[in-house]
Amino acid sequence: MPKCFCSLACLLACLLACSRIAPCFAVQIVTWHSSSHSSRNKMSAAQEQLDEELQKYKDMFTLTPETLVRITDRFVETLEKGLHKDGQTVPMLPAYVFGWPTGDEKGSYLALDLGGTNLRVCHVTLKGKGEFDVTQTKFRLTDEQKQCEGQELFDFCADCLNTFIKDHFGGRDGEVHLEEDIALGFTFSYPMEQERIDHGKLVRWTKGFGNPNTEGNNVADMFKKSLEKYEVPIKMTSLINDTTGTLIASNYVRPDTRIACIFGTGCNAAYMEHIKNIPKIAHHKLPEDEDMAINCEYGAFDSFEHKHMADIRTKYDEYIDLHSNKPHEQAYEKMIAGLYLGEIFRLVMCDLVDEGVLFLGQNTYKIEKPNVFDTAFLSLIESDPTDELLTVTGLFAHFFGLETTIEERKFFKQLAELIGTRAARLSSCGIAAIVRKMGYQEKGCEVGADGSLYSKYPRE
Ligand code: BGC
Repeated sequence: MPKCFCSLACLLACLLACSRIAPCFAVQIVTWHSSSHSSRNKMSAAQEQLDEELQKYKDMFTLTPETLVRITDRFVETLEKGLHKDGQTVPMLPAYVFGWPTGDEKGSYLALDLGGTNLRVCHVTLKGKGEFDVTQTKFRLTDEQKQCEGQELFDFCADCLNTFIKDHFGGRDGEVHLEEDIALGFTFSYPMEQERIDHGKLVRWTKGFGNPNTEGNNVADMFKKSLEKYEVPIKMTSLINDTTGTLIASNYVRPDTRIACIFGTGCNAAYMEHIKNIPKIAHHKLPEDEDMAINCEYGAFDSFEHKHMADIRTKYDEYIDLHSNKPHEQAYEKMIAGLYLGEIFRLVMCDLVDEGVLFLGQNTYKIEKPNVFDTAFLSLIESDPTDELLTVTGLFAHFFGLETTIEERKFFKQLAELIGTRAARLSSCGIAAIVRKMGYQEKGCEVGADGSLYSKYPRE
């Protein structure tokens, strides 16, 4: 398999574009002034009852160091399995990206990033010495676009690319003035089996996507078909996962990077593996002394049988899993990623409403709707700097028409911390497993990270 500079530089450009600028949650923060109503005493949940509940949730969501070590042990074994045999739960997908960039790559590239929440189109200029410029446009994906025919989704991607090119490179004469043969890197952040860098068979949709007639297909071909349909004068030269891109892009800027992870709508990591340690591709007879990036797809850890984390899975994790469009898949991701944390919080609130503990005497129908509690709300609750927790007051009043007592708000802040901390601790197991597997403990290494959860969630 030849090393292809163009593809490497293109994917570099692609991920520098897409990974450096993390998506932000579209949340309006309202300013709100609290007032004390005498009737609130009647309505407010008893402090003691909330304390009791909090203790219950502390027991449920707190992970001990022993548990984390045990999960990491299972993780290391799981990663090894994926390297040995095809079709494993954590598939450890070879990315056909060989070795690190030099940092001196230069050129002008286009990049398209189909993530979990947005589609981004970028123009990237690599300037060498680890420097780059990016111009980008972001399109929010609708729920319909996540479920429409697969080909239609790629048509939308091609259409957005076309618009971007016309907007940024269109002249008064109506002609497009772009470098001839400018290459496009496509960041496709879903598990795909690759045979080369410009090929990728979608294994399965994740992050709530469910577009029919796409799983099992080569998404590069589907996208090329859409490019032809819209007569986009661009050549797609590489298809990569966001983690692989973040790995290469982070290394371009910080050469000690060895691992990269994404904590966003979904979660996952990539790292550089010695080809001799990937037995399942031995038949390709690639040079054994070279390295290749592996897209772990470790959001799938503990899927299907749920045997590694059975003791820590809560009824809320079970509920979210079984009510998702992909039950039993992405088990680890569902306990960690941005798509799910808000929903865990919401389900706890719903239980407490049913038990007569929260929002007494109020109409709670708005929070009873699945997925209305965005993970961005947890960020806001955790980072409310006021003693009275006025942001929390405003959030519940504005979005859900609910009044809250200070006791309830304090409870929410602690609950958000419990859910966020569990996610953060669990996230560390995957990274620790790669570090251990690669023997980086002694020497250490840098880990690139990106994603909305990583960049927006409060606390280090
Ligand atoms: C996908 C991965 C992706 C991750 C982060 C997961 O749901 O399966 O391919 O890297 O989300 O975007």
